[in-house]
Amino acid sequence: MVFNPEKFTGQAIADIKKTIGNAKTITALSGGVDSFVAATLAAKSIPGQLTAIYVNTGLMRKGETEQVQKTAKSVGVPLTVIEAREKFFAALKGADDPEKKRKIIGELFVRIFEEEAKKHGVTYLIQGTIAPDWIESGGLGRDTIKSHHNVGGLPEKMHLKLCEPLRELYKHEVRMVARHLGLPDSIAERQPFPGPALAIRIVGEVTPEKVEIVREACAIVEEELEAAAKSKKMEMPWQYFAALLPTKTVGVRGDERAYQYVVVVRAVRSLDGMTANFSHVPHEVLERISTRITNEIRSVGRVVYDITNKPPSTVEME
Ligand code: XMP
Repeated sequence: MVFNPEKFTGQAIADIKKTIGNAKTITALSGGVDSFVAATLAAKSIPGQLTAIYVNTGLMRKGETEQVQKTAKSVGVPLTVIEAREKFFAALKGADDPEKKRKIIGELFVRIFEEEAKKHGVTYLIQGTIAPDWIESGGLGRDTIKSHHNVGGLPEKMHLKLCEPLRELYKHEVRMVARHLGLPDSIAERQPFPGPALAIRIVGEVTPEKVEIVREACAIVEEELEAAAKSKKMEMPWQYFAALLPTKTVGVRGDERAYQYVVVVRAVRSLDGMTANFSHVPHEVLERISTRITNEIRSVGRVVYDITNKPPSTVEME
């Protein structure tokens, strides 16, 4: 049967109303399409009963917090932004093991979210869990490759009742619902972005300086690849970003020796992130990216392109 977003929306609103009744409800808005669709459906179903929380971890992409605020306003989602940049950087100081970093971020997120839930006296948690989420995170007896962080651990720890209106949907269906709800293309078509955000695109210890480098580099990669795909120079990758290595290499700036960071550009084709092939980005596009990164980010002296598929690699660096 063909998926009908209008019919789904009507049904989901009726179901949320029936499940939640008059109870106060909270949701975590990450800015991704799943959490935005879940929050928008909830805002329509139980107006006045919903609090949507966006935690600014300091690890988000360029302009992301502002875009989330603007979009939430446009679709009537009541948003509370929690500024937690300092807390995240303090907690991550000295941590260079990937799983440890993920754990620190996940736990701090839960703690902050929990405080907010207590303040608002909520009973329900709305989550944008979709079908592949519970299949991948150890569902169906699979091995956990990386402990994925979204807000998956929240309900058990917080004793909140859970409402997951998108549980049966696949990503392309969520995108259809997003468009039906009037969410802009920048959200409806948004590429996947991991819960631990830019922290897992910095190999090793996370510092404010490194986040700044990777944030700028990611913005350049996004701009250039989107422009190249729009002008039909290449197919749009499924996911595309920059990452920062913990090593410096030697280069030249002007006439002087320089010792600077290495940025990795990653772009992959995939259906669901479970397997992926690196995108065949034209060399002229890679050259533009490399020139822009080294010109615009003065602490980067070398740019490399990742030509590994998943497996044996993964999409993200950590
Ligand atoms: P990997 O690196 O595991 O990534 O090959 C596969 C897809 O999952 C995303 N990813 C995450 N998403 N929480 C998320 O919500 C996470 O902790 C996480 N880690 C990786 C990654 O961006 C890619 O799309």
